Amino acid sequence: MKILVTGGAGFIGSNFIHHILRTYTEYGVVNLDALTYAGNLENLKEWEADERYRFVKGSVTDGKLVNSLVAEADIVVHFAAESHVDRSIMSPQAFIDTNIFGTYTLLETARKYNKRLHHVSTDEVFGALKLDDKPFNENTPYDPRSPYSASKAGSDHLVRAYFHTYGLPMTISNCSNNYGPYHFPEKLIPLAITNILEDKKIPVYGDGKQVRDWLYVEDHCKAIDLIIHSGKIGETYCIGGNAEQENIWIVKKLLEIFGRDESMIEYVKDRAGHDRRYAIDFSKIGSELGWRPTVTLEEGLRKTVNWFQENMDWWKHVKSGDYTEYYKKQYGK
Ligand code: NAD
Ligand code: DAU
Repeated sequence: MKILVTGGAGFIGSNFIHHILRTYTEYGVVNLDALTYAGNLENLKEWEADERYRFVKGSVTDGKLVNSLVAEADIVVHFAAESHVDRSIMSPQAFIDTNIFGTYTLLETARKYNKRLHHVSTDEVFGALKLDDKPFNENTPYDPRSPYSASKAGSDHLVRAYFHTYGLPMTISNCSNNYGPYHFPEKLIPLAITNILEDKKIPVYGDGKQVRDWLYVEDHCKAIDLIIHSGKIGETYCIGGNAEQENIWIVKKLLEIFGRDESMIEYVKDRAGHDRRYAIDFSKIGSELGWRPTVTLEEGLRKTVNWFQENMDWWKHVKSGDYTEYYKKQYGK
């Protein structure tokens, strides 16, 4: 099988490519990535010389390039996106271009060649839960509240429309917050870990009581693997980590792992329109495909801390250049 992975130089995409090339020795992967600030070829260094892997630098919005790559693939697994909520609040344009127009470009080409497309989406399309609400599931109405989640919701609707209107063979997954190796340090867990390693304070938005469900990235990759091999065409699957926690719990747990005290916490201005809680009911993928998360939050956090300790060069390089500018704009220092 030849898989066209979009956004494969990012956090989840690169973990997915590692998973596929290690698990299926006869599969080939073409990685189409624009190498934005979030894309990093270092993530995939070990496959550079492997004939089963090919990197193509380019955008999912480039119809001509997408056409040639989709034509030669058996399936497209679509990760490419602008993925950070705070950046979408500062400048939404790139989110509309890549997440909506880029997905449309892929869909048009997949339709032309009748190729299977798996679209990787987020639980944020469902909006925010109250503490006593039931978790999101595949029937929860869409209610996106940030430019990021609205752009992902738009792309999900387009993917579904191409199934109903043109019969495009597609599947969608909506998952909760991933964490693990290669996680870009603008997101809460890698930001907290690397700030602790640099002896800098950890910015906690608002009261820190927002709840997220945390999914170890390798569990997510295994879920996508199952969906592309055994998922039902036209269906959506919700994927969660069974690990709901307040942000402040996560930060305190990381401080405990490092043996540092709570004076490293700095409460800062809240995110605009900050969603209070996300939670996922993943019983559909559990009963239909036999998937469940295997890495507990405590175990996953320790593995992630170890990875960042062992890969200091990786994150020190990433935490320079454009990232420094972003950090100044976001946190004012
Ligand atoms: P990321 O920001 O780490 O990586 C995104 C990748 O897409 C980068 O390599 C970037 O260079 C590439 N890219 C951006 N614009 C592109 C374009 N126009 N053409 C080609 N490549 C482009 O993101 P991530 O956290 O790995 O997320 C991957 C996907 O999973 C996204 O679609 C995101 O919405 C979804 N998702 C992420 C999470 C999470 O917790 N990180 C949770 C649910 C869903
Ligand atoms: O739920 C899935 C989503 O998870 C994905 O679709 C997004 O691509 C991904 O970025 C992630 O979005 P979040 O906004 O939940 O992730 P982030 O790590 O930015 O923030 C997690 C929580 O921590 C959120 O409530 C905001 C808070 N936070 C974040 C940062 C960066 C802080 O308190 N301090 C911080 O410095």
